[in-house]
Amino acid sequence: MKVDVLIIGAGAAGLMCAIAAGQRGREVLVVDHANKVGKKILMSGGGRCNFTNTGATPANYLSANPHFCKSALARYTPADFIELVEKHRIAYHEKELGQLFCDESSKLIVRMLLDECAQAGVRIETSCGVEKVRKVDGGFTVMTSRGEVHAQSLVVATGGLSIPSMGATGLGYELARQFGHQILPTRAGLVPLTLSGKHQERYADLAGVALPIVQSRVGKRQFRAGMLFTHRGISGPSVLQISSYWQPGDDLRFDLLPDQDAGEWLLAQRQARPAMELKNVLSDVLPKRLAQRLCELWFESRPMRQYRDAELSQIGAQLHDWPMVASGTEGYRTAEVTLGGINTDGLSSSTMQSRYVDGLYFIGEVVDVTGWLGGYNFQWAWASGQAAGQVV
Ligand code: FDA
Repeated sequence: MKVDVLIIGAGAAGLMCAIAAGQRGREVLVVDHANKVGKKILMSGGGRCNFTNTGATPANYLSANPHFCKSALARYTPADFIELVEKHRIAYHEKELGQLFCDESSKLIVRMLLDECAQAGVRIETSCGVEKVRKVDGGFTVMTSRGEVHAQSLVVATGGLSIPSMGATGLGYELARQFGHQILPTRAGLVPLTLSGKHQERYADLAGVALPIVQSRVGKRQFRAGMLFTHRGISGPSVLQISSYWQPGDDLRFDLLPDQDAGEWLLAQRQARPAMELKNVLSDVLPKRLAQRLCELWFESRPMRQYRDAELSQIGAQLHDWPMVASGTEGYRTAEVTLGGINTDGLSSSTMQSRYVDGLYFIGEVVDVTGWLGGYNFQWAWASGQAAGQVV
């Protein structure tokens, strides 16, 4: 079979690229080894797909080259994707911090992409594996499980390694290597952190305890959002966000009361409730079980009147700078994204084309561009897919 453009991977980036190329009149075939398209879109945002973030800027992405994502993000913006969503009359809402979710279901986003593909004349083959790719004169010959395909342009949109049970594979990295690209070390991102040994024993029985707002911190990077104790460690948005910046051995800290001066507050509590024990006072602003545990581990719980000013200031300071010794992450099994990937040095930032092989493109998560939690990763998938779709 001969086509103009073959796209490997019918996820967010691959489908967007297919739409853009199909609309330009290119004959496009998308193949995916999974039995359904857009599985990660379907499972995203708790089934409601956080499809973009209205505040997305290059500063919300991690990459060895922080400038690489600028061009594509500037040319296909959250407003462009919102326009598409509105054209398909999909109801959505802003949850917080610019995060847009479907009111009903992420299925509507997949249906929208499939409708656009159909209108643009794009063909999609699911349950179609890729066995071998060869560069030939005038394009590529790709051996798939459904036969040989010859394409002028080949777009690799196979995503990252997270959630292998949803179809993630390392094919994109293998193809990149085959054609001379460098792969920067990959690791799980936006992922719960694990604790071990005494650090786990201290908190294991708090599984399920949640704090609505904390500030996680690694070096100068900090995120203000919720936190949750799990059976294996810690999770919640503030932990997922910082996990992309944390590496084993890094100092990880939490401000448990980021909205107030804890020292001042404790002094005021001593004045107002001198007979009350510290653990009960802390239970007003922290989950009760956590407040008790902190008192067992760090501060002895006595009636407030027995604490000196300096002691309360010190307890306040500790609440703003609580150390957590994580041992690792839950890994690709539960990670939302894969950090690292195809080195952007080998790609054009305006078209995503390989600098080494004409007609070869890499888009989406397989590239070393990873967004924060909050709709940024889909925005990169849409934007990089569009960038390539305009030229393939
Ligand atoms: P994507 O993974 O979407 O697509 C890759 C496709 O390639 C898949 O269909 C796969 O089957 C196919 N493929 C892989 N190997 C292949 C092979 N060997 N042969 C053929 N096909 C192959 N982001 C966000 O912005 N908002 C959100 O709400 C969420 N929520 C979320 C929840 C969960 C649980 C996860 C795991 C991830 C998210 N994300 C997210 C991240 C987001 O899903 C992700 O960044 C994008 O889907 C990446 O789009 P891609 O098209 O690059 O890869």
